[in-house]
Amino acid sequence: MSKTEKKPLLQVENLSIGFSQYMKGTQKRVIQPIADMNVEINEGEIVAVVGASGSGKSLLAHAVLGILPSNAICSGSVVYKGEELTEKRKRQLRGREISFIPQSVNYLDPLMRVGAQVQIGLDKKTAHKQQEKLFAQYDLKSSDGHLFPYELSGGMLRRVLFATSVREGVRLVIADEPTPGIHPEALSEILKQLKQFAKDGAGVMLITHDMMSALQIADRVAVIKEGATVEISEAVAFQGTGERLKTEYTKRLWRALPQNDFDLEFKGRDLNI
Ligand SMILES: Nc1ncnc2c1ncn2[C@@H]1O[C@H](COP(=O)(O)OP(=O)(O)OP(=O)(O)O)[C@@H](O)[C@H]1O
Ligand SMILES: [Mg+2]
Repeated sequence: MSKTEKKPLLQVENLSIGFSQYMKGTQKRVIQPIADMNVEINEGEIVAVVGASGSGKSLLAHAVLGILPSNAICSGSVVYKGEELTEKRKRQLRGREISFIPQSVNYLDPLMRVGAQVQIGLDKKTAHKQQEKLFAQYDLKSSDGHLFPYELSGGMLRRVLFATSVREGVRLVIADEPTPGIHPEALSEILKQLKQFAKDGAGVMLITHDMMSALQIADRVAVIKEGATVEISEAVAFQGTGERLKTEYTKRLWRALPQNDFDLEFKGRDLNI
């Protein structure tokens, strides 16, 4: 890379994640779900991360955010704005410059009204107004703000989670499956918002099983298989018979989509796409 070339906003290199687990008695073993993960995201760019269930997409997100469980053994490098992301820096940036939309709605506090949860991190003076605006934007009623998470449907909770991520000053958005169970109107609002984050100059990591929706907004797509990045390609390569894709795995993944010739031989059909 020449000196004048812009550095990526986020650069994940040779990321490995293992977990030490106790077997019977006191014997310990280490499992290694992530072996060689590489992803980079530039400012203003949306990178979709796709791969079968269990391939390590959420672990990648959690490693960048610094929220892996304590028995995780992590190596490799995560560089943000040209500087190594230490655990301390991750803590400082999380929920501020680095915004996270988690895969599970269990990240919401079950004992706190959802309106109040969306107000966390907003300027106190205008928090209520901003929350109401976000609710309207994501097709939630003003009165929904008084409800607790258990009183909302799964799709509504996803929209609440998304609303918690929309903050001024966000530079990197990590969205882990933000769209399942969401009706088409709210889905297009979420895609629009992710696109807006990028237009405002933020980098977006969009983890998803919904490749067709992701391709509407993604600039590049990273394909993950069994804890390793197998391919990173421009989103425009995902068209036709996939002849511009680099690996056989990604070609087959692409052709396995119902919209394409639906290659039923493909072993990754548990992708739910
Ligand atoms: N705390 C943990 N201890 C041990 N193994 C774990 C732990 N968390 C995740 N794993 C394993 O790591 C692998 C990757 O998990 P991960 O949740 O990242 O998958 P994913 O790609 O996000 O899947 P999905 O699409 O279903 O969300 C899985 O095999 C999972 O069982
Ligand atoms: Mg996941």
